[in-house]
Amino acid sequence: MLLKGKKGIISGALDENSIAWKVAEKCHEEGANIILTNAPIALRMGKINELAEKCSTEVIPADLTSLEDIELLYDKTSENLEGKIDFILHSVGMSPNVRKNKEYGDLNYDWMIKALDVSAISFHKMMQIAEKKGVLNDWSSIVGLSYIAAQRTFPFYSDMAEAKSLLESITRSYGYRLGKKSKTRVNTISQSPTITTAGAGIEGFNAFYNYAEKMSPLGNATAEECANYCVFLFSDMSKKITMQNLFHDGGFSNTGISEEIIDQFK
Ligand SMILES: NC(=O)c1ccc[n+]([C@@H]2O[C@H](COP(=O)([O-])OP(=O)(O)OC[C@H]3O[C@@H](n4cnc5c(N)ncnc54)[C@H](O)[C@@H]3O)[C@@H](O)[C@H]2O)c1
Repeated sequence: MLLKGKKGIISGALDENSIAWKVAEKCHEEGANIILTNAPIALRMGKINELAEKCSTEVIPADLTSLEDIELLYDKTSENLEGKIDFILHSVGMSPNVRKNKEYGDLNYDWMIKALDVSAISFHKMMQIAEKKGVLNDWSSIVGLSYIAAQRTFPFYSDMAEAKSLLESITRSYGYRLGKKSKTRVNTISQSPTITTAGAGIEGFNAFYNYAEKMSPLGNATAEECANYCVFLFSDMSKKITMQNLFHDGGFSNTGISEEIIDQFK
């Protein structure tokens, strides 16, 4: 019961493969009271109501690029959970250029701006409105999900790489500000490739999933393992961890080459 008595918002659970779905289940198991949120269109397409039933909670629709929707999300959450919140999971990402297979040398810039807004600026918007509305308890914890393409080039990740770099930069800047204001910590988890709707939308995803598996001494981190890490970061066990991009990747980020990959080239 690491999260007993804590209240939080979990965004981005679409179906049982979503990382956020596993995080919601674990937070519920660990005693937290949560509110689920996703874009209105995802509510129609996904299975989030099943999850809400499992976690004895409700879903508050919000397009996280919309300031009005975020305000309403916080108003309804405060009403529903009766008070301020202790944690937020931002588990949202989408690039129209990636979805529509637009090459990196032929990006549609309106779509690129959309990708930055959905995948990174929405994180800033959530924190700015949370700060203005005063919805965060002291020592609250905010987590976003990132990918190593923020540091190294993975050609098929396209403009999502820029979005993740921005997400990690916002984490540092807002982490500083909220640390001073409310002892809130802000971190990103840089997760291994994980088989989900967003993951599978990336061209060549299976090859790169298998490559990462072979390059990581501990193997790829699963969505369940990521959920455990989120629980730790939302709990009081991680009170002084902030402004970090935390690799949760089985060792991939610090591995130059593995025997398995060498064997394939022999
Ligand atoms: N799957 C991977 O390999 C992997 C690896 C590292 C990081 N991540 C990151 O993890 C996060 C969650 O992705 P996932 O893999 O669980 O996939 P997913 O497709 O299950 O989740 C993405 C979610 O974003 C939501 N979303 C999109 N636009 C939105 C908007 N405007 N407002 C609110 N919600 C919106 C979708 O409805 C969906 O629920 C993303 O940030 C993703 O980039 C994924």
